[in-house]
Amino acid sequence: MLKGTVKTGSRVFSTSLMRQCVCKDARAYSVLPVPRDEEEEAMLHRMMRVDHAGEYGANRIYAGQMAVLGRTQTGPLIQHMWDQEKRHLAKFNEILAENRVRPTFLLPLWNISGFLLGASSALLGKEGAMACTVAVEESISEHYNSQIRALMEQDPDRYTELLQVIKEFRDEEMEHHDTGLEQNAESAPGYWLLKAVIQLGCKAAIRVSERV
Ligand SMILES: [Fe+2]
Ligand SMILES: [Fe+2]
Repeated sequence: MLKGTVKTGSRVFSTSLMRQCVCKDARAYSVLPVPRDEEEEAMLHRMMRVDHAGEYGANRIYAGQMAVLGRTQTGPLIQHMWDQEKRHLAKFNEILAENRVRPTFLLPLWNISGFLLGASSALLGKEGAMACTVAVEESISEHYNSQIRALMEQDPDRYTELLQVIKEFRDEEMEHHDTGLEQNAESAPGYWLLKAVIQLGCKAAIRVSERV
């Protein structure tokens, strides 16, 4: 066999060509840059950990809402938003695995509290579920916006792929927020109080998920 080639089955490949393919593939789906130092690595891991936790929690909230309202007229709308959340979560799962980022230890807590929040808000009726959606999605959008600002201030070229992912998800969270308002979130009983309490919870969840 020629030097610089490998044989797999009946085919012979050039090793330099294979190396190129591997690198190109890795580049094609790698969202995070290779960290240049420990500080950058810590920052990126913190960001990905909290984003993953947020998307995980959002999935559980929509699961809880579907458990209550799945068979009503609002079911397909909630399912549509949930499907988008599933895609967001899948992306962060991929990023975490690829970059060996540890997920937050609090996932079991977000699992239960997310589902309970979704289900209990839906028990207030469609408007209650939508009020929860408005509150949560506004918090997540603000959170993504602050990450976008931080990355842009640091080095927009270095974080192009990551910025693209976060911006795309931020836009979909804004859509969910607007859908909630269109679906009369504001006529939920105790809307402003409900929204304030949920957003306080989201802020606390974001803060702890970055750290643990
Ligand atoms: Fe999401
Ligand atoms: Fe969302």
